[in-house]
Amino acid sequence: MSPPDKSLPVNPGIPKNFSDFINRTGEEDLPPPILNWETKRERRQKYILFLEDVSVTFDGFKALDNLTLYLNEGELRCVIGPNGAGKTTMMDVITGHTRPDSGEAFFGENLNLLDKDEVFISQSGICRKFQKPSVFESLSTGQNLEMAMKANKTVFGTLKAKLSKEDRDYLDHILELVRLTPRADKLAGTLSHGQKQWLEIGMLLVQKPKLLLLDEPVAGMTPQEIERTTELLKTLEGKHSIILVEHDMEFVRSVAKIVTVLHQGTVLAEGDINYVSSHPEVIEAYLGGA
Ligand SMILES: Nc1ncnc2c1ncn2[C@@H]1O[C@H](COP(=O)(O)OP(=O)(O)OP(=O)(O)O)[C@@H](O)[C@H]1O
Ligand SMILES: [Mg+2]
Repeated sequence: MSPPDKSLPVNPGIPKNFSDFINRTGEEDLPPPILNWETKRERRQKYILFLEDVSVTFDGFKALDNLTLYLNEGELRCVIGPNGAGKTTMMDVITGHTRPDSGEAFFGENLNLLDKDEVFISQSGICRKFQKPSVFESLSTGQNLEMAMKANKTVFGTLKAKLSKEDRDYLDHILELVRLTPRADKLAGTLSHGQKQWLEIGMLLVQKPKLLLLDEPVAGMTPQEIERTTELLKTLEGKHSIILVEHDMEFVRSVAKIVTVLHQGTVLAEGDINYVSSHPEVIEAYLGGA
């Protein structure tokens, strides 16, 4: 039997730096270790997303500082943190937009995100929604979804092909899911801000993503729209793995089981919303950033 990989134990109260964890003297203010040693390969097998000790530096400034985050398949994880905490940079690393200086990032057991480009990564099932909705306003809602579905299929050389009955049914299902069936034939430009956000989520869903990265999807939505988005995300939970970056704490409370708090490029706390919102360092980070 090979010796255990000594790089890290699995510990939900993640220390800032895993090598620190191994070399610790017992004096540090770190959570107690959980004696559950796993190899890196086992962790990659276990999680759909595996980020370990990822660091990104911009002109000497550490935007990510030994960031470690694991996501279970089908999990909906909320990532919060004050402005500049590194949330968007983390998504940039996952999608191949930004290359870290150090660390590891895997999607599933074998897809090393750090040696793949953005196109390859998106075709591998990681879809990202930016904060601002970007739909084709002069096309109908249904056409937007159709375009997104076909664009995804260009990989297989079928851009001009008509959608199959199965594809049509799936498209109708997504229209229903994002509550836009009555607007299917209306121009996307006529949709409300919230409906455009849903349409864009729908445009990701028709691509059948394995991992959805959503950056502040409820920003600018009415309370009713937020409530409907909560329902939508709860429907998606378990079927897709989701990372949701959000500032709206009420919304986070309503959807998230586990919340990861980033601060200064690293994980400050991770746990349920009650745990993180009463965590002294989290409170300090938010007040300090106010
Ligand atoms: N391309 C870049 N060049 C230089 N600095 C950058 C670049 N991108 C991000 N940063 C800096 O890195 C830090 C992290 O930025 P990031 O956008 O990831 O934070 P965030 O958590 O998404 O913040 P917000 O909540 O405001 O969206 C910030 O201090 C930001 O100014
Ligand atoms: Mg951001």
